[in-house]
Amino acid sequence: MSMVMVVVVVLAATASTAAAQLSQNYYASTCPNVETLVRGAVTKKLQETFNAAPGTLRLFFHDCFVRGCDASVLLAGPDDEHSAGPDATLSPDALDLITRAKAAVDGDPQCTNKVSCADILALATRDVVSQAGGPNYQVELGRLDGKVATRAIVKHSLPGASFNLDQLNKLFAANGLTQTDMIALSGGHTIGVTHCDKFVRRLYTFKGSSAASRGPPMNLNFLRQMRQTCPLNYSPSAFAMLDVVTPTKFDNGYFQTLQQMKGLLASDQVLFADRRSRATVNYFAANQTAFFDAFVAAMTKLGRIGIKTATDGEIRRVCTKVN
Ligand code: HEM
Repeated sequence: MSMVMVVVVVLAATASTAAAQLSQNYYASTCPNVETLVRGAVTKKLQETFNAAPGTLRLFFHDCFVRGCDASVLLAGPDDEHSAGPDATLSPDALDLITRAKAAVDGDPQCTNKVSCADILALATRDVVSQAGGPNYQVELGRLDGKVATRAIVKHSLPGASFNLDQLNKLFAANGLTQTDMIALSGGHTIGVTHCDKFVRRLYTFKGSSAASRGPPMNLNFLRQMRQTCPLNYSPSAFAMLDVVTPTKFDNGYFQTLQQMKGLLASDQVLFADRRSRATVNYFAANQTAFFDAFVAAMTKLGRIGIKTATDGEIRRVCTKVN
């Protein structure tokens, strides 16, 4: 066996042992009310602003893809992740939601300092998804919080809005996720927004549907409409909805958006444009239950990435600081 293979096998074995520490009833004896406490905080925050729903879902994805699901994305400091690259637009409402959920959990004397920030984020993510109309699913728990955050790796760990199918598949495969997982998880774009800078190039270099080499095509009327939303001198705060069919409902409208050629990010529209992924987009667009099932399966796999153990993890007392 070559050295590379030995390293790969050892890493895979470590990863599966760490993931094996996860279980749905991990806090049954230490904090039996954890699910109710987190859900209460989520409900309250969503009553104030819906933005926290897409914001939290994106926060969880970014946490898991950068150093694993270890709440490293929440750490604040000179080398924090959340002021770097794609993380710079993470939602303040989502960060606030996690702070409040942590306070709610720690406010129960039985639970104080017993539940990791990484698990609170995983639970809050499930709750925003289900409260926005999406599937309600059991969350595996038992993640520990990481002790390290580095800004430099963020941009290499997260997908870009101009990625093509091969680039998307490569990055997701490196995280143990299949193309179907990747398409289902992209369905997270059924809620939330994107700012003009992420797609404006598509609006002004677009030369009709034959220009496949310039990226996936866009519906022409929609393109004209989006030029009003994002003129050449667009404001940095201008944005548009990722799912034009049902922007604030967690459903399969995102896949219908792609069928209508109204996906704003090239990385979204390419899923319909590329023949290798189109059948899955059509399937999810026609069958919401199939999408929900695939989403839950993929979220569960996402939630197992890079789990920290007692040697490299802890339960943070404050989510923004290592103990
Ligand atoms: C497949 C590759 C992906 C790419 C290239 C991508 C890229 C992006 C970009 C560029 C934005 C807009 C950010 C902004 O302008 O503020 C965005 C927003 C969002 N992303 Fe993704 N993303 C991907 C996958 C995912 C996954 C797997 C999830 C979760 C399961 C997710 C959830 C979200 C959500 C919910 C928003 C809206 C955030 C808000 O409104 O606050 N994304 N994504």
